[in-house]
Amino acid sequence: MVITVGNTKGGCGKSTIAVNLAVEFAKEKKIILVDSDVQASSMSFRAKREKDDIQSIAINTPTLHKDLKVLNENKIVIVDVGGRDSTVFRSAILAADLLIIPVLPSLYDVWALEDTLVVLREAKVYKENLKAYVLLNQLLSNTWLAKDVTEHIQKLKDENEIELMGTMIYSRQVYKNCITAGLGVTEYPGAPEKAIQEIQGLHTEICNILHI
Ligand SMILES: Nc1ncnc2c1ncn2[C@@H]1O[C@H](COP(=O)(O)OP(=O)(O)OP(=O)(O)O)[C@@H](O)[C@H]1O
Ligand SMILES: [Mg+2]
Repeated sequence: MVITVGNTKGGCGKSTIAVNLAVEFAKEKKIILVDSDVQASSMSFRAKREKDDIQSIAINTPTLHKDLKVLNENKIVIVDVGGRDSTVFRSAILAADLLIIPVLPSLYDVWALEDTLVVLREAKVYKENLKAYVLLNQLLSNTWLAKDVTEHIQKLKDENEIELMGTMIYSRQVYKNCITAGLGVTEYPGAPEKAIQEIQGLHTEICNILHI
């Protein structure tokens, strides 16, 4: 099963989400974390991690969707992909059973989704059943999600372009701290219960979507 965490937009939380999901899945399943971004944040996370439960490799070539076939057997593969190289990005989407698109809750970021959707539409020609979900990340706790953001996402849902994850991730310092420690938030000492619930909730929601 391949879960790609991708968005052509930088800094929306791809690596943060990918490594936290890897930690959750590694509690029960064999997991490979594939870093397809030349910036290699997921590889740096693995290097910091003392526990050897997450195997990690870097593949940033456009043959990713073919290469992953051998790795995929009985494993959960999580791909962290940036949008810097469009051919690698396309390949990582083609490889996916599920595409998670982290999006910051601003109208600019929701508009910028169009670049990712262009690639997604192309991939769906070859992979009709590819599931794509927007995951809102870095919400601010004391503000409602802006109406224009929800309206635009609803429009994309109505047009069958994407789904929206029920789980939403709030902006919390612990998401920054845990990565540098090589830990997921669910393992991080003193992590707020709400952050733990977010990542566990995301993990459960993904398992339900993929029937795993
Ligand atoms: N929910 C969150 N709460 C607080 N900080 C966050 C959260 N999600 C991500 N960040 C921070 O935002 C920054 C960008 O996150 P991250 O590196 O995961 O994004 P990215 O999409 O992988 O970026 P890039 O495009 O550069 O690869 C990092 O400093 C990260 O710690
Ligand atoms: Mg990254």
